Amino acid sequence: MDNPELSRSLRLQAAGCRNLGSPFHADLLELAADDLEAGGPVAGLLTPWTDASLRKLFDDAAPLRLLGALHDLVLSGDDPALAATYPKLGRQADPASAWIAARTAILRHQDRLAAFMTHEPQTNEVRRSVCLTPGFLTLARETGLPMRTFEIAASAGLNLNWDRYRYEFGGTAWGDPNAPVVMDTEWTGGPPPVDAPVEVIERAACDRRPVDLTDPVQRRRLLAYIWPDQLERLARIRAAIDLALALGVTVEAADAVAWTARVAAPQAGCVTVLYHSVFWQYMPAQSQAALARTIAEHGARATSEAPFAWLRMEPEPDQMTNMEVRLTLWPGGEDRVLAKVHPHGAWVKWLN
Ligand SMILES: C[S@@+](CC[C@H](N)C(=O)[O-])C[C@H]1O[C@@H](n2cnc3c(N)ncnc32)[C@H](O)[C@@H]1O
Repeated sequence: MDNPELSRSLRLQAAGCRNLGSPFHADLLELAADDLEAGGPVAGLLTPWTDASLRKLFDDAAPLRLLGALHDLVLSGDDPALAATYPKLGRQADPASAWIAARTAILRHQDRLAAFMTHEPQTNEVRRSVCLTPGFLTLARETGLPMRTFEIAASAGLNLNWDRYRYEFGGTAWGDPNAPVVMDTEWTGGPPPVDAPVEVIERAACDRRPVDLTDPVQRRRLLAYIWPDQLERLARIRAAIDLALALGVTVEAADAVAWTARVAAPQAGCVTVLYHSVFWQYMPAQSQAALARTIAEHGARATSEAPFAWLRMEPEPDQMTNMEVRLTLWPGGEDRVLAKVHPHGAWVKWLN
């Protein structure tokens, strides 16, 4: 393949996987890059990006689509030889054997893998709730009111159940001790306000392209984008999916801008919370401006009996990797950074 950006994108993504704790995927991508440079079969899966720039390859997340397609095949059980080389509990990851099996799988399942890769990646990181929940607790403490919670860009809606999970924040904990989903994090800073009274009286969510958890293919796609050597993460999302299915969580198919205007105006007797995680960058600048205007309009209508809050976990301004949790609360519109956080919630530096 002539385009050197293809193997460059695989190697850069490999470094990203290594930094975010997936040495297995990092090694697999390095081997895929070697294979591509040697004229191997992985080139066939990258045909849609034959002339793509590095920017385009990353905007489309092409290397992650490749990894997702292979993991989806493993999860389906349709390629036992490949599955036998993937990490699992009690078995050491062996990327060299995995890549040999992946090469064969690419030749055998080329159309199916290519079809998977036409779809944009869909993820829903449930451990982001460990970053957002201290924000909800802060709101509960500061307003003393029940909450209406509205999540935009919710994907499968797993973070809609933030108050039904159990959290271990360093020395403190919050949530039902018998919750089926438990998450911890490396917590630094003072404790979050775990004694605040939390009552969610309404919850709803939207996504431009929601994941329907009742569809086994979509459910598997979501799991396929969890890195296979992150077994704890896989177990957590499986438990969160089971809970969401049991509770019948739904995510409306709608654009965030119109939906926010329609559903999230403040109401008396409760605090209305609009929240999101890792979403802002996916909107064009015009939509970002329109959504910011709608939020400001809801904020302008807020009163002390009907406060409005905007809680979000997004990259720090002007960069992509370090994330922060930010809260704006009206009336008044005070805006503050509550925490610096890991993109998947592995650590939280609490600043409040
Ligand atoms: C990286 S995912 C994050 C999903 C989830 N918030 C999480 O943290 O796991 C970004 C999500 O934004 C959604 N999205 C992008 N633009 C949107 C828009 N204008 N309106 C609604 N959802 C949007 C995508 O469909 C996708 O589910």
